[in-house]
Amino acid sequence: MTQLALNHISCVYDTSLVSLDDISFTVDKGESICVLGANGSGKSTLLQVIASCIKASGGEIIIDGVVQKPGVNNRKAGIVFQEPDNQFFMPTVWEDVAFGILKKGMKPEEARTLAINELTNLEAGELADRPLYKLSGGEKQRVALASILIMKPEILLLDEPTAALDPRARKNIIALLKNLDCTKIIASHDLDMALEIASRILFLHKGKIAADCPAPGLLRDEGFLQSIGLELPLGCAKKPTA
Ligand SMILES: Nc1ncnc2c1ncn2[C@@H]1O[C@H](COP(=O)(O)OP(=O)(O)OP(=O)(O)O)[C@@H](O)[C@H]1O
Ligand SMILES: [Mg+2]
Repeated sequence: MTQLALNHISCVYDTSLVSLDDISFTVDKGESICVLGANGSGKSTLLQVIASCIKASGGEIIIDGVVQKPGVNNRKAGIVFQEPDNQFFMPTVWEDVAFGILKKGMKPEEARTLAINELTNLEAGELADRPLYKLSGGEKQRVALASILIMKPEILLLDEPTAALDPRARKNIIALLKNLDCTKIIASHDLDMALEIASRILFLHKGKIAADCPAPGLLRDEGFLQSIGLELPLGCAKKPTA
């Protein structure tokens, strides 16, 4: 069943550079899609347009049959930004994670318990009372993810979720994401994560869809990957001969 549809979406920043160029695709409920592409190919712009954080210059986005109002945040999609600092605005970690549920009217004590549980799932429970600005990059990434997961979005948009993580945290987050039933659209340079998580891969190249295929598909095609500025994932690289 189609949950999300993008029809001829384009995005031109004020620099007149075309960041997204006539993008159309549909997403079924529960799909796990990785969006891959070189630097500047439009991955972050695509996620932010779907989340209505930025207005598309043309085209329409439909969620559950409803055309989204440009620039008006739809509550069904939750986004974790590439730069977590962009989404923090409370003084301490737990307050930031609990912000959404507090706003919905939950009592502070209950909200704090849920926030700590969510952080603990991401091995970040001990950060609850720390000020956000004093966290490391990987700690911020986990907190940002917790603050979105706690809202249980129907469509989870993650921009480079493993970029700042140490190997163990990366492994844990991949396992956690695999267990989530919601629809996931994940922009990343972590092609090995895509091999583990994705049911489908959308390759972007210079703001256009270069390929949209079931995983792993073209992730094993070195010639195609190089043509759009990517390299084979380590999991597909040829082993050196002894
Ligand atoms: N706020 C902005 N104003 C003007 N141009 C922008 C803005 N944000 C992004 N761009 C441009 O739009 C294009 C797509 O950028 P985007 O951030 O979506 O790429 P990306 O695929 O996420 O790259 P990366 O892998 O580096 O995160 C780039 O050429 C970028 O320079
Ligand atoms: Mg990006």
